[in-house]
Amino acid sequence: MNAFTYSYPVKVYFGEKAAQKHLSGELAKVGTNVLLAYGGGSVKKNGVYNELIGILQSAGKTVTEFTGIMSNPTYAKVQEGAKLARAHQIDFILAVGGGSVIDCCKIVSAQAKLDRDIWDYEYAQHGQPTEFIPMGAVVTAFGTGAEMNNGAVITNTEKMMKSPLYGAFYDFTILDPAYTMTMPMKQVISGAFDSLSHSIETYMGFPQQVNLSDEINEATQRNIIRNIRASIANPDDMQARSELIWAAAMAENGILKIGKVTDFQCHMLEHQLGAYTDCNHGQGLAVLHPVLYRHMLPEAAPQFARLAVEVWGIDPAGKSEQELANAFVDALAAFIKEIGLPTTLAEMKIPVDTDYKAIAESTILTGGCAKKFIADELYHVLLECR
Ligand code: NZQ
Ligand code: ZN
Repeated sequence: MNAFTYSYPVKVYFGEKAAQKHLSGELAKVGTNVLLAYGGGSVKKNGVYNELIGILQSAGKTVTEFTGIMSNPTYAKVQEGAKLARAHQIDFILAVGGGSVIDCCKIVSAQAKLDRDIWDYEYAQHGQPTEFIPMGAVVTAFGTGAEMNNGAVITNTEKMMKSPLYGAFYDFTILDPAYTMTMPMKQVISGAFDSLSHSIETYMGFPQQVNLSDEINEATQRNIIRNIRASIANPDDMQARSELIWAAAMAENGILKIGKVTDFQCHMLEHQLGAYTDCNHGQGLAVLHPVLYRHMLPEAAPQFARLAVEVWGIDPAGKSEQELANAFVDALAAFIKEIGLPTTLAEMKIPVDTDYKAIAESTILTGGCAKKFIADELYHVLLECR
């Protein structure tokens, strides 16, 4: 196992009615001016907005709304939020939504306190922001686990990059499975598949030798697979939603990463696909994973083979490591089909004239991937996904 230090800054309030039970206590610790951030309006339809605004008003807060945060949040939207936060002297940000709202606010919180352009500061000057507006997250769509980390994936439409920027950790997050019951089933599935992808990408890093983090990870993957199936079978299954919202957080709260260098090559490729096509993140991963993984045989065979047995229940008797590794990729591909995720870019309605070469050439190559990809091979992966 690699050497590590573990401590975690995000307090989690999990369970039904968690906002009613705990939000006012948290609000008592922060200043009067609150930025209430949300997306395109689902929170207004499902009653979450009304519930939260009631708690904010009872706590005597002056609320400024930052709305319309889109899926795959843009850098321009971050700047809009930072401007609003400065203009209203915001003391605290309450982000309400899925990964997009939660990510956008992490960078708003940093940019509002920084007098330089944060993209340039982090990428050109290699700076790390140190001052932030404190924040809380209320998760209404699970999957990314964005509430548990300080990385945000932001789309810079001028630079054609969908890239990580680093902001603050949330002081707390509210995970109420009841808030996720109105998620469209397509988003339940693509979000939960994203959590499965995070778990696999973490597992696939180095060292390849299995450790405690990996064994917890195997259980997390089995749990996600089981609860995706349960959610499809019964969309009202609150227990399944509870498991999925916590599994998403587990995949990103650092525990599965302890003692490991992670992979995340599939994510880097999907992010650039997103930069060029604005596609749904979980769906993009579903198309890319099996094709990319066939390119990673045989380098990743030891880990793939173990996943075949420990997660997918494939009988190892009489099979070589390579055969088991293949069986894992087959099982993953079959599962993607079974749960109705797309298996080609065409199914995702990605235009045929998409510049796949530019996507491949702008993709970050990760050090933790078992195979050392070059841009040209990633280009061929994309072509095979069409
Ligand atoms: O905008 P509204 O109207 O709220 O609708 C949203 C949105 O259309 C809807 N929704 C959310 N909660 C709902 C609901 N609809 C009905 N009922 C509810 N309770 O769901 C749609 C998708 O939301 P979004 O936040 O875009 O999805 P997701 O959570 O999948 O986040 C995706 C973003 O997170 C990034 C992705 O790249 C993408 O930009 N990621 C962030 C990560 C991180 N910071 O750790 C890791 C991930 O790998 C990922 O890259
Ligand atoms: Zn992801």
